[in-house]
Formats: sequence, C-alpha cells, structure tokens
Amino acid sequence: MFHGKSVVLIGFMGAGKTSLGKAAARTLHIPFLDTDDMIEQAEGMSINEIFAKKGEAYFREAETRTLQELADRPDRFVLSVGGGMPLREENRPLLRKAGCVIYLNPGIDALEERLRYDTQRPLLRQGEGTLYEKIERILQVRDPLYREAADVMIDNGKESFMETVNRIVSLVS
Ligand code: S3P
Repeated sequence: MFHGKSVVLIGFMGAGKTSLGKAAARTLHIPFLDTDDMIEQAEGMSINEIFAKKGEAYFREAETRTLQELADRPDRFVLSVGGGMPLREENRPLLRKAGCVIYLNPGIDALEERLRYDTQRPLLRQGEGTLYEKIERILQVRDPLYREAADVMIDNGKESFMETVNRIVSLVS
C-alpha cells in the first residue's frame, strides 16, 4: 500500500524516531533527514538555545517551513520530525504528502525510561510534577493528534529494535 514511498516518523520525544529512522534509512539505502537537525543547522543554534533565545512560537514556524520544503521534495527519504510537529493542523497534510506517516508509540513506561537523563528537551525541563506526570499530561493532548496524523501506528515498547526496523522497512518495500 505504501510501496516506494518515503517514511515519516512521528511520536513523542524519546519514542525512537531518530535511532529507528537512521537504521531504516540504512536498510532502505535512502537518506535519513531530521527536522530538528535541519532547523539547528539553519539557525546555527541548538534546540535548547532556539527555545531560550527566540521562543517556542519561532521554533514552530521554522518547523512548518522546513516541513513544507520536505513535502515538495521529489526524492525518497526517511524523515524524523520533532514530537510537536503533528500538533499544528496545517502540518498534518504536509506530513502525509511527505510520505507514509508512522506513529511510534512505545508507551509511557518506555518513554520515561528513555527520557530519564535527558537534558536536551526544553518541554520536559519546565512545568510541575514528576517526569512520568509530565509525559502523561503532554501525551494526553498529543496522542489523538498523532493518531489522526498517522497512516500506521507501531507499538514499539515490547518488540526489539530490529523488529521495529524491519516492520518500518516492509511497510514501504
Ligand atoms: C519537541 C520535541 C523535540 C524538539 C523540541 C520540541 C516536542 O524533538 O523538536 O524539543 O514538542 O515534543 P524530539 O521529538 O525529536 O525529541
């Protein structure tokens, strides 16, 4: 159904979009792209610095602009987007235009485990409560939007890394 399409990975911070995306791209022999990396390069600043110096609204504008360019690209790629990308309504059709949209959803326990020592995600460094509570609170709002944006959802909480890679690859092969 998605034969020959690009892959677009969405999901919460720590869901595995970047690491799984890189491995899937290697297997498919196509480039791996990441909107956070592209924005950091264009701005000459880390995501943390962009949030601190220019604010979240500026970052969200940069995300939409970057996605627009990618959606128009004729070549095939694996794309990982920031966890907040599917939130803007205008971004959701652009994600679909860019490729087969896969929602990586490993569950809160796995997310908490992977994000425990993170210092690079500004959204998890602000607000009240434990890390688990923050993830739960943000995910409650985002999960329906991730589902709406996605063609396919993969629960990658229990399966091995390579099993997930193979599932992603076979969807577009
Ligand atoms: C964000 C996720 C981050 C990054 C920024 C905001 C979010 O990307 O874009 O910190 O709103 O969920 P990852 O999902 O790759 O961590």
